[in-house]
Amino acid sequence: MPVGVTLTDGEEFEYIVVGAGAAGASVAARLALAGASVLLVEAGGDPDPISWVPAAFAALVNPAMNYQYKTISNNVSCLSSQNRQCQAHRGKGLGGSTSINYMMYVRGNRHDFDELNITDWSWKQMEPYFLRYEGLQDLNLLPASSIPYHNTTGTMKIGFFEDSKNPWHSRIIGGYEALNFPRNPDVNGVSQIGVSRIIGYTYRNERMSTARGYLGRDDVKRKLKVAKYTRCTGVIIDDDNVARGITVVHGPSNATLRLYASREVILSAGALVTPQLLMLSGIGPADHLNEMGIPVRVDLPVGNNMTDHALVSVFIKVKEELNLLKDILNTTEKNSSLASILLTRGGSVGVTDVVSFMNTLCYDFDKRQLTGNSSECELPTTQYIHLYADKGLLAIGGPELKLHLKIYDSVINQLSEINQNYALITVSPIVLQPKSSGTVRLASVDPLQAPAIFPNYMSDDRDVEEMVRGIRIIEQMMETPVFKAAGASLVRLELEGCPGSSQQQDSATYWRCYARHLTYTVCHAVGTNALGRVLDARLRVRGVARLRVTDAGALPRLPRGNPAAAVIALGERLADFLLEDNID
Ligand SMILES: Cc1cc2nc3c(=O)[nH]c(=O)nc-3n(C[C@H](O)[C@H](O)[C@H](O)COP(=O)(O)OP(=O)(O)OC[C@H]3O[C@@H](n4cnc5c(N)ncnc54)[C@H](O)[C@@H]3O)c2cc1C
Ligand SMILES: *[C@@H]1O[C@H](CO)[C@@H](O)[C@H](O)[C@H]1NC(C)=O
Ligand SMILES: *[C@@H]1O[C@H](CO)[C@@H](O)[C@H](O)[C@H]1NC(C)=O
Ligand SMILES: *[C@@H]1O[C@H](CO)[C@@H](O)[C@H](O)[C@H]1NC(C)=O
Ligand SMILES: *[C@@H]1O[C@H](CO)[C@@H](O)[C@H](O)[C@H]1NC(C)=O
Ligand SMILES: *[C@@H]1O[C@H](CO)[C@@H](O)[C@H](O)[C@H]1NC(C)=O
Ligand SMILES: *[C@@H]1O[C@H](CO)[C@@H](O)[C@H](O)[C@H]1NC(C)=O
Ligand SMILES: *[C@@H]1O[C@H](CO)[C@@H](O)[C@H](O)[C@H]1NC(C)=O
Ligand SMILES: *[C@@H]1O[C@H](CO)[C@@H](O)[C@H](O)[C@H]1NC(C)=O
Repeated sequence: MPVGVTLTDGEEFEYIVVGAGAAGASVAARLALAGASVLLVEAGGDPDPISWVPAAFAALVNPAMNYQYKTISNNVSCLSSQNRQCQAHRGKGLGGSTSINYMMYVRGNRHDFDELNITDWSWKQMEPYFLRYEGLQDLNLLPASSIPYHNTTGTMKIGFFEDSKNPWHSRIIGGYEALNFPRNPDVNGVSQIGVSRIIGYTYRNERMSTARGYLGRDDVKRKLKVAKYTRCTGVIIDDDNVARGITVVHGPSNATLRLYASREVILSAGALVTPQLLMLSGIGPADHLNEMGIPVRVDLPVGNNMTDHALVSVFIKVKEELNLLKDILNTTEKNSSLASILLTRGGSVGVTDVVSFMNTLCYDFDKRQLTGNSSECELPTTQYIHLYADKGLLAIGGPELKLHLKIYDSVINQLSEINQNYALITVSPIVLQPKSSGTVRLASVDPLQAPAIFPNYMSDDRDVEEMVRGIRIIEQMMETPVFKAAGASLVRLELEGCPGSSQQQDSATYWRCYARHLTYTVCHAVGTNALGRVLDARLRVRGVARLRVTDAGALPRLPRGNPAAAVIALGERLADFLLEDNID
């Protein structure tokens, strides 16, 4: 990792980039490699060594590298979480959320950019930025039809996760195949639809964060200045609405410094914090800024239109036969960080690299088959992700789960009881294009306080209906030969206010209620300082000169897939814009 610099008040650079995450690391590294003087400012430090272990992702909840934001309840989602609050994990430190995320490399669907209908932002115009950084190691394992879609020499090395040797890996794939899901070798190739072993941001069985892919390069380390443990508190903007620099809290004494950018300031603090920094600097909805007593510089819809990928965790109990846990327990010490690593083990990353994408409207519930093949069916509406918990795991991991997912005791206790005798597979449908949207606002004028995050999951009933279609497909998977043979069944938790498991209710009614209880998020929020709304087509903040944004918040809407690939591409693209627009 790069060595951190010590800053003094009044220092000047050509560019200052705030936030060393997916987009920030990428734009800062590219500018520095092009010879510019660049300061990258990051609130956290180096990623914890445990983050390098792919299977340990569930352990990355330590406040030193995870903000663990609390959200404001909307009373119709996350009802089985404490205070009905959903969790919003975000990475802190070099690499940002790419140092704690699930590492799935998914570009989304090529229609995602075309549908934005923003000049210069079609898929054809974005594709070169995805390819520029892609360093695919396993092209030889993909069909020839995939070749035109990939680059093998880019700085972010990616590849398949190690084989977990968990027999459920192929069984889950078999379950989808029995429902006529095609086996898809490459979701980033010809088609996105079907069941796949997903490619990950992993190289030699270690995590490939943007800290490693961009900031750890020797040529970048020589040129880029990185200030760690340095928190931006606002943008310095002059009376002509020109951004001149930023204010930061820096170093062990928490000194407040003013830092200047002779060319441009770039905010990449993520979809939750960049809007906060903009609003603190007088850029945001005028009524909200007035309410907070902040003079309005530019009235813009900052913090509006937050959309995020909610998921619902559905549990399948299956006969235990692996005994992976026993072996591990007998050789290692029991403690809570170990327990959370084991949560995902069951062999390497277990079954977490099994992913499927499909359009639920193309599934025939009577035939129990994915049947439709119109062009509409090539646009997925739901993604499924999976976890495996060995028998007995919750007895150890339960307290961790309670702590980090803030699940109510009544739910954890039911699961723990089942888990004493059965292994649990978690299948989580994700609604890819949710209709529900929320906001980010200021909770306080103190920049060191967290923003007010209101994700508002499932406020639109259409999202619940999509979720229920997704769950009912899993219900049908239980009837396929592989799952039947394993005595598999969906766990019907007793949930307050939902029909009881003994009641012979229409199952959709039960799952509708369930979905509002067992709601979680994959932490993919976008849209809070979006291209076309807050930013112009060159990612400039409207009404302010020399201020740009590149991060997840700049994406106007969610991709049909995990967003890091698109966010890194946004960083790559902004570097081109800056170099083109600052040629003198
Ligand atoms: C648990 C989890 C799992 C995920 N799984 C996947 C996945 O499998 N695949 C995928 O594609 N995507 C995944 N994502 C989403 C993906 O990681 C994010 O969309 C992406 O990292 C967002 O990039 P960003 O640049 O907007 O912000 P981030 O990567 O979050 O980076 C923001 C950075 O800014 C810093 N910062 C914040 N405030 C300040 C401040 N005031 N001053 C200085 N620095 C500041 C932060 O510390 C952080 O380092 C996941 C996310 C999470 C949290
Ligand atoms: C949720 O319920 C609480 C308590 O009844 C209430 O104070 C709050 O305003 C509600 N929130 C929304 C978004 O309706
Ligand atoms: C795309 O945008 C143009 C210009 O704003 C508009 O005229 C056109 O109707 C839009 N097309 C679609 C499909 O929304
Ligand atoms: C592939 O990556 C290399 C190395 O970063 C880069 O030079 C090249 O332009 C990339 N190829 C494409 C098609 O973007
Ligand atoms: C600096 O700020 C951090 C975080 O707010 C705090 O924990 C620490 O005690 C502060 N240090 C000093 C010297 O004030
Ligand atoms: C953004 O949010 C505003 C206010 O909530 C809403 O009126 C508008 O339709 C949203 N725009 C998009 C593109 O979702
Ligand atoms: C550990 O191994 C011993 C001896 O093989 C066995 O008796 C014991 O049950 C094992 N413990 C666990 C937790 O599996
Ligand atoms: C807990 O487990 C971790 C990982 O195996 C180990 O490094 C650490 O020393 C253990 N801590 C205690 C207190 O046993
Ligand atoms: C749909 O499937 C039929 C029969 O398999 C095939 O002939 C047709 O080309 C497919 N259509 C599309 C759009 O893929």
